[in-house]
Amino acid sequence: MYNKIMLINGPNLNMLGIRQPEIYGTVTLADIEKGLTLKAKELGFELECFQSNSEGAIIDAIQSGFKRVDGIILNAGAYTHYSYAIRDAIASVMLPVMEVHLSDIHKREEFRRISVIEPVCKRQICGLGEKGYYIALEDLIENYVEKD
Ligand code: DQA
Repeated sequence: MYNKIMLINGPNLNMLGIRQPEIYGTVTLADIEKGLTLKAKELGFELECFQSNSEGAIIDAIQSGFKRVDGIILNAGAYTHYSYAIRDAIASVMLPVMEVHLSDIHKREEFRRISVIEPVCKRQICGLGEKGYYIALEDLIENYVEKD
């Protein structure tokens, strides 16, 4: 165990708080990162936070977790729906990955209903707003991080 978890947020999630508050709420990414860092610390883990609008940078971040962190919490934003490259990166690193979405992707536009990363993630949590990140963190540590 490395006692380290990575939080990765994808495109446009840096705009949380400003971006479509009726869908995503008023919480900012900085608020989420701060709160989740504290929660992780309580549970004995360091949280490494990363956000990028670029597919390649997200893939680099996922790969950087190999043999370095115990798991990843990922909101891939719109890449969720079509990035086979991010899906392949998740499958490559053999780390438990929790898929999070603030909104309920199953109750919005048709194109959001498909997640191409879902089959390679441990669990998909959506529609619970920021709470979803906390549930993902607790479940990841309790049930999916390899203890040794
Ligand atoms: C999202 C849902 C995606 O469909 C969208 O493209 C996002 C955010 C969510 O957190 O609800 O950028 O991942």
